[in-house]
Amino acid sequence: MINQNEFEETTRQYGFISKCRWYIKKKSKEIGRPLYACIVTFGCQMNARDSEKLAGILKKMGYVITDTEDADFVIYNTCTVRENANLRVYGRLGHLKSIKKKRPDMMIALCGCMMQEEAVVEKIKQSYKHVDIIFGTHNIYKLAELIQAHLDSDSMIIDIWKDTDRIVEDLPVERKYTFKTGINIMFGCNNFCSYCIVPYVRGRERSRNPEDIIKEIKTAVSEGVVEVMLLGQNVNSYGKNLTNPMSFAKLLAEIEKIEGLERIRFMTSHPKDLSDDLIEVMSHGEKICRHLHLPLQSGSSRVLKAMNRHYTKEDFLILADKIKTACPDISLTTDIIVGFPGETEEDFLETLEVVRKVGFDSAYTFIYSKRSGTPASVMEEQIPKDIIKNRFDRLLKEVQREAVKLMRRHTGNIQEVLVEEVNTQERQLVTGRLSNNLIVHFPGSKDLIGQIIQVKLKECKGFYYFGEQVQA
Ligand code: 5AD
Ligand code: SF4
Repeated sequence: MINQNEFEETTRQYGFISKCRWYIKKKSKEIGRPLYACIVTFGCQMNARDSEKLAGILKKMGYVITDTEDADFVIYNTCTVRENANLRVYGRLGHLKSIKKKRPDMMIALCGCMMQEEAVVEKIKQSYKHVDIIFGTHNIYKLAELIQAHLDSDSMIIDIWKDTDRIVEDLPVERKYTFKTGINIMFGCNNFCSYCIVPYVRGRERSRNPEDIIKEIKTAVSEGVVEVMLLGQNVNSYGKNLTNPMSFAKLLAEIEKIEGLERIRFMTSHPKDLSDDLIEVMSHGEKICRHLHLPLQSGSSRVLKAMNRHYTKEDFLILADKIKTACPDISLTTDIIVGFPGETEEDFLETLEVVRKVGFDSAYTFIYSKRSGTPASVMEEQIPKDIIKNRFDRLLKEVQREAVKLMRRHTGNIQEVLVEEVNTQERQLVTGRLSNNLIVHFPGSKDLIGQIIQVKLKECKGFYYFGEQVQA
């Protein structure tokens, strides 16, 4: 249940939203047009969901949400998991400076994971003085208050918190899709994988109360949502820190009962915490999608130990086997890092072996990126770029060969598809998603968007299908 303090905070924030609303109305009257706000999201699904919350607040304030950065308010919701994410933000900030020159009233805000790094904020203060507001991952609910503070002071507002145990509920959200949505079930991460910056920028693990989660899903369903993606850095450890602890498997079983909800996805699972109970719930669940994202990171037990992952190659193989036995139609996907410090050719060959043995339907492959402040960044034996590149190319080939083989197994089947959009290239086609997360294109009109229908998978085109709607 929502506690009194958090309830008061929600009310306080609605007060700031009203004040900003008044300012925006006045400004809009002055210039004779609506004010536009653009949110640019970098990184993961967690950030995408945070951006929906930012959009909710901005819309409530009176802004019209737009995709173009030539707007009255531009906010970058940043990612810092790998270095190139940071570099992209700096590049685009340079470009925004020239837009702001032509629009002196424009406001620029930065938030998200990258802002939780002191060195980044220092650099922005020194070299990007055209930024107006900087905040982090723990206080996005304060957006209206920060805008108000900027308007009052006309100076750069910086509000970064190191960590929080606060979860402020019931603020407005503007969903990107009407029929599917992400739902945060927990925030932060306690795992400290040695390469990963997330625990430092997203803070310690905190779970939302099941009642709040279920209430939010029920509301979304009443507004037309049929598919939810339960979000957390490590959903398998959901509920451990609640006053009345509850397992993720139990939470899923409760969500299954929500009438009108058709599909449940979740992400991300840590192999070390994936319980037999969860496998059991997944094998019987009628709404739980036939897809599990299970990051492997490396196939070498030696590297996994140095990564602080708490499982071995054999543990992973046994777990994958257990899941595939219990849910034979499941699609397994994964994340793999190449070039972790000290990774030898033998270690890398073990990763290739696991890829071959498990059979992943797809794998996100990453080149190791050194993140300052993480234990891996000071490990000796950082791997030379050319060796990493060579391993990366070989891994990609292996992953694709296995994935294409597996993909074809659905040819000729009839499966349920949630229609998501009109195909961006061929307007007579629509694009939908199978329960196992595969994409299928087929002839259809925009009226089908948001519906779950039966589609025959006629032709496998590598990483997607062409299909045809069939009557149920
Ligand atoms: N370098 C490369 N990849 C990383 N990931 C996390 N940190 C790093 C890093 N420093 C990858 C992991 C994780 C995914 C979200 O990003 O594979 O599962
Ligand atoms: Fe990073 Fe590991 Fe936490 Fe995932 S589980 S966010 S890889 S520290």
